[in-house]
Amino acid sequence: MIAVCLAGATGWAGSELARAIAHTDDVELVAAVSRTHAGRALGDVLHEPRLTASVHGSADEALATACDVFVEYTKPDTARANILAALERGAHVVVGTSGLTDADFADIDTVARKQGRGVLACGNFALTVVLLQKFAEAAARLIPQWEIIDYAHDDKIDAPSGTARELAARLAKVRAPQPTIRLDKTVGPREVRGATLAGWQVHSIRLPGYVISAEVIFGMPDQKLTIRHDSGSSARPYVDGALLAIRKVSTLVGVHRGLDSVLDLQAP
Ligand SMILES: NC(=O)c1ccc[n+]([C@@H]2O[C@H](COP(=O)([O-])OP(=O)(O)OC[C@H]3O[C@@H](n4cnc5c(N)ncnc54)[C@H](OP(=O)(O)O)[C@@H]3O)[C@@H](O)[C@H]2O)c1
Repeated sequence: MIAVCLAGATGWAGSELARAIAHTDDVELVAAVSRTHAGRALGDVLHEPRLTASVHGSADEALATACDVFVEYTKPDTARANILAALERGAHVVVGTSGLTDADFADIDTVARKQGRGVLACGNFALTVVLLQKFAEAAARLIPQWEIIDYAHDDKIDAPSGTARELAARLAKVRAPQPTIRLDKTVGPREVRGATLAGWQVHSIRLPGYVISAEVIFGMPDQKLTIRHDSGSSARPYVDGALLAIRKVSTLVGVHRGLDSVLDLQAP
C-alpha cells in the first residue's frame, strides 16, 4: 500500500484524483488538505464513503500523519512551502500544481537530493499532453523557430500554464532561439511579442469560453506546422497520469519534470 497525503483534495483536479484513489487496491489516502473543509472526513465532503482520511487546514497539520507520497494540487502560492515541508518529513512528492518557476524547482531539487527523495512535477498528467511534448521535441530537432500559445478560461490565475512552461523548458533543451529579428529590436511595445521563457516566446490567452489548450507553432520559410492539444472540461484526463506518478515517484531522486520520466513511450 502506498500511503498518500493529498493537498487540494476537495478541488476540481484533487477531488477527481481522490475518488479514483478510493477505487485502487494499492494506494491509500491517509490525509487530505483543504482550508474550507478542515476537520471533516474527506468521504463526507466528496460523498465517497471509502475515503476515511481526515481533512486538515494546512499541509503541515496533514503531514503529522505519516505518508509515503505527498501530492500537491493546491495553488502556486502555497505549493512551494508544501513541497518543501513534505520533503523535510521524508515523503516523496508528486506536483500537479502549475505556476512554480524554474528557480523554485532548483531549490526543491536541492532539498530533495539532500533527503534522498523523488519529486515528479507534471504540468499536465494527461497522456495526450505527453504526446504533444514528444511530437514537439521531434519537430524542434528539424525546425529552428517556434512560439508557444497557451489558452485558458478567464479565471485561471497562473500564466503561462504549467503545460506551456514545461513545453518551453523542454524545447529550449533541443536548441537555443534563433529569432530573425531580436526582441530588443522590436518596433512598438515589446510586450506584444509575449514573455520569454527558457529563451522562447510564450503567449497566454485568458478568456471566458476557453478550457485549456496549448499550441506550438513551428515556422519555416513558406511553411508552418501547428501542434495543438485541447483538454475537455472534466478532470478525468489527469487521473491515470497522477496515479502512475504516485506509483513511480519513489523510484526517483531529485526533481524530474514530465510524466515521461516514468512512462515507457517506446512503440511495442
Ligand atoms: N498537472 C495537471 O495535470 C493539472 C490538472 C489540473 C489542474 N492542475 C493545476 O492544479 C492546481 C489546482 O487546480 P484546481 O483546478 O483543482 O483548483 P481548485 O479547484 O481551486 O482546488 C484547489 C484546492 O486546493 C485547496 N487549497 C487552495 N489554497 C490552499 C491553501 N492555501 N491551503 C490549503 N489548501 C488550499 C482548495 O481547498 P480550500 O480552498 O478549501 O483550501 C482546493 O481543495 C492548479 O495549479 C492547476 O493549474 C494541474
